[in-house]
Amino acid sequence: MQDLDEFTVTEAALAQMAKTPDPRLKEIMDAAVRHLHAFAREVRLTPAEWLTGIQFLTAVGQACTPFRQEFILLADVLGVSALVNAMHDKKARELGTQSSLLGPFYREGAPELPRGASIVAKPSVPEIVIYGRITNNQGAPIPNALVQVWQTSEHGLYDLQAENAAEVMDLRANFRADADGHYHFRTVRPLGYSIPMDGPVGEMVRQQNRHGFRPSHIHFLIGCEGYRELVTALYFADDEHIDSDTVFGVSGSLVVNAKEDPDSPIPGLKAVRYDFRLAHAEAGDTGRVGADPSKLMKAAE
Ligand code: BEZ
Ligand code: FE
Repeated sequence: MQDLDEFTVTEAALAQMAKTPDPRLKEIMDAAVRHLHAFAREVRLTPAEWLTGIQFLTAVGQACTPFRQEFILLADVLGVSALVNAMHDKKARELGTQSSLLGPFYREGAPELPRGASIVAKPSVPEIVIYGRITNNQGAPIPNALVQVWQTSEHGLYDLQAENAAEVMDLRANFRADADGHYHFRTVRPLGYSIPMDGPVGEMVRQQNRHGFRPSHIHFLIGCEGYRELVTALYFADDEHIDSDTVFGVSGSLVVNAKEDPDSPIPGLKAVRYDFRLAHAEAGDTGRVGADPSKLMKAAE
């Protein structure tokens, strides 16, 4: 008969899990139990607080829909997604463009548009051009790379936040790089925005006295056979929240300005030039932190 106290219960839980056949699952679950128990001891967690935590996680799950992933949002505001990205970048075989969060608004199946097209159905401000090259880490072009982009409008909302989200695809598109790795498209400068604050994660962020904003940015998911998929974003330097992103996605190497540019493929519009570098792939290495929310809902069914 075991006689357990607040310390020996940790050993007992680890002992029961000791025969887990999958070594990686065992490593992860052992560490999770050790750290969770240490956390509960450190804060002297009470039963009422434990229940509050359970209620919070229940609400996070209940807020998830095919168009909203509240658990990803939770990982983001706690800095976990940025941490996983940073470790993932470090593990690459060679240096590529830095990763940034996929976020909860990625969606598969955006329309593929010809180079130079606009991703905005009804722009109400002058458009800008985003252009550059997709290369390997030596600067050699990666022809035909798939460049998926998505962003908020000039008013700060994603299409997925519209009431009729299921029917609308806007402010997102897929492009193919040309034979020299060149890509370009038109868009509007996105407005920085608040993360969704109407759910349990937003309520937590408010209780922590945080502003909840992300600086203006454009998301990119760039892939090509044989290369590590790159999930990243470009951030506009003059946004007031550039140094206090609620989800810790900004890195100096991803900060840009839209400016007059005589080399732009579309003269007369302000432009951002950015060259993306992809690292070669390792087996089983997708590079994604996050997923299309509808895919996650399907996988959980
Ligand atoms: C986004 O960039 O779309 C995003 C990322 C994390 C949380 C909320 C939004
Ligand atoms: Fe975003």
